[in-house]
Amino acid sequence: MTDTRSAAWDTYAKSRPHRRAINSRGETTWFNWTQYPDHGPGAELLALPPGGSALDLGCGSGGNLAHLATLGMRAVGVDLSPAQLAKARGRWNGVEGMALHRGDALDFLAAAEPFDAIYSVFGAAHFTDPALMLPAVFAKLRPGAVFAMSQQPAVEGCYGCQASSIPRGPDEDPAVVKRWDYPVERWPALLGEYGFGDCRATVVPAPLTGKRKSGTLVVRAVREH
Ligand SMILES: C[S@@+](CC[C@H](N)C(=O)[O-])C[C@H]1O[C@@H](n2cnc3c(N)ncnc32)[C@H](O)[C@@H]1O
Repeated sequence: MTDTRSAAWDTYAKSRPHRRAINSRGETTWFNWTQYPDHGPGAELLALPPGGSALDLGCGSGGNLAHLATLGMRAVGVDLSPAQLAKARGRWNGVEGMALHRGDALDFLAAAEPFDAIYSVFGAAHFTDPALMLPAVFAKLRPGAVFAMSQQPAVEGCYGCQASSIPRGPDEDPAVVKRWDYPVERWPALLGEYGFGDCRATVVPAPLTGKRKSGTLVVRAVREH
């Protein structure tokens, strides 16, 4: 694949630690929508039926997928980065019900069967134009199924396509990938334009403990019919 994005995300993968072996509640798998450990909502946001199917767009090293698989779901992930997928395979080898695919999220959606939920955690939905991503997701949700995504909230006044830098070390220019940012109040209307119902967008505040103040934008909508 001659996609500069996958090389950029490989660089990112190598700079990131593995998810902890156990969280503060003593769990070995868990769902995390935010950039903070043990913080924010969990898998209940997806309203999955028992044994349902979920697709993770930009699954990275697979921690959220592994959690859904251990709950008995069919957990499918797609990611551009071979290094991220290698981390996922290394860490979650043997978890039943989890399938990992290499590729672009839009290409994967185009050929996919419908799912009971589709989600993206700081993933492909942030790094793809919503004018392409939202209709592609809508088309592959079963009626009643949830789409949810989380990402860094936009910087005030910086909307539409933005550049994200991924550091490559002191002697190299950073890798650059594109992301799409909008004001929080724009998201429900945007989702509505592509047919979604019950559209909500909220910023989960940062934990009260700790120095970081940046919250997490969480967007959720339903394909009602
Ligand atoms: C910031 S990481 C987040 C990974 C993971 N969701 C997590 O919460 O740890 C972004 C991930 O999205 C993947 N990604 C970005 N654009 C993508 C696309 N168009 N198709 C598939 N994966 C993509 C990257 O390779 C990377 O693994």
